[in-house]
Amino acid sequence: MSQHRQKTVLSGMRPTGPLHLGNYVGALRGWVKLQETHRCFFTIVPWHALSSEYENPKVIKEYTFEVALDWLSAGLDPEKSVLFIQSEVKEHAELHLLLSMITPLPWLERVPTFKEQQQEIQDRELNTYGFLGYPLLQTADIIIYKAEVVPVGEDQAFHIELAREIVRRFNRFYGEVFPEPQMLLTEVPKLAGTDGRKMSKSYGNAIYLKDSPETIRKKISPMVTDTRRKRRSDPGEPDDCPVFTLHKAFVPEEKRAELAAGCRSASIGCLECKKVVIEALIQEFATFREKRAYYEKHPKLVWEIFEEGNKKAREVAEKTMAEVREVMGLVFPGGQSTPGKV
Ligand code: TRP
Ligand code: SF4
Repeated sequence: MSQHRQKTVLSGMRPTGPLHLGNYVGALRGWVKLQETHRCFFTIVPWHALSSEYENPKVIKEYTFEVALDWLSAGLDPEKSVLFIQSEVKEHAELHLLLSMITPLPWLERVPTFKEQQQEIQDRELNTYGFLGYPLLQTADIIIYKAEVVPVGEDQAFHIELAREIVRRFNRFYGEVFPEPQMLLTEVPKLAGTDGRKMSKSYGNAIYLKDSPETIRKKISPMVTDTRRKRRSDPGEPDDCPVFTLHKAFVPEEKRAELAAGCRSASIGCLECKKVVIEALIQEFATFREKRAYYEKHPKLVWEIFEEGNKKAREVAEKTMAEVREVMGLVFPGGQSTPGKV
């Protein structure tokens, strides 16, 4: 242990079901490493899912469980990190409400994901109060733990920028309560899915962490490669090959360079090249599959692990909220918010 205080990290995932390789490379793999050096909070966020899935909320619990299984099996460790469920820590909702009082509407309306998502998702009404407030709820998730570092992908940049602006505004009004969270950009080559487009659950082209070796083989073997390689004797360009995006994430550098050279000189075939990444994936997730099978059989244990995390999170969140209520003048004599009373 270093003498320096470990920085606090928070990140979250929406419960959208089992995680795929894109989620792993873009988030989970990095989080597992961060646990070694930081004080980490990782949260599954049902309320964020609800902002778009409000018509069919019953799936959220099952999806939360799937994400929980994937987290534990991939190596997020409840001994090292606080793993919890956002909606089980009600203080997030209180902070979200208080932040909503100081947030100018245009700040939310100009967040690009708000309009983008509305355009993209046509089958539901997303012009709602809750959906507009999505990034503000995310701000509450982050700052209630006074997180200093938020590991996220590029798509979240505006949300983190908003969080920073809200923190500055809050601190200006009421005093220095929150640190400005910093974005830790996870830079990863975008993974292609089985149809060559970006890997995404909604495209139905994803390879899941929980996929069996047979499924991994069946998904990758027929994938389209660089179109230059019409025949085995045609040289190709790995940088234009969807399959090679998987190599970049899962095949060690040295082996990958060898394959790239072989592709460019047509000295290897695509089948052989694919086999390498298939085997790498099967190996990388061997322990994962064992652990997942175990946790699947012990759902009670999984929920218990998360309830332990919820408790730890509540303790920290409650402390922050006591401070927030105090600086905002919301502590009433003998009331529920009186320090020491819970
Ligand atoms: N909006 C994030 C996403 O879609 C999920 C999220 C919710 C989050 N709360 C968070 C991420 C807090 C980082 C920090 O990926
Ligand atoms: Fe892609 Fe490998 Fe085939 Fe080259 S040899 S086109 S990198 S699968």
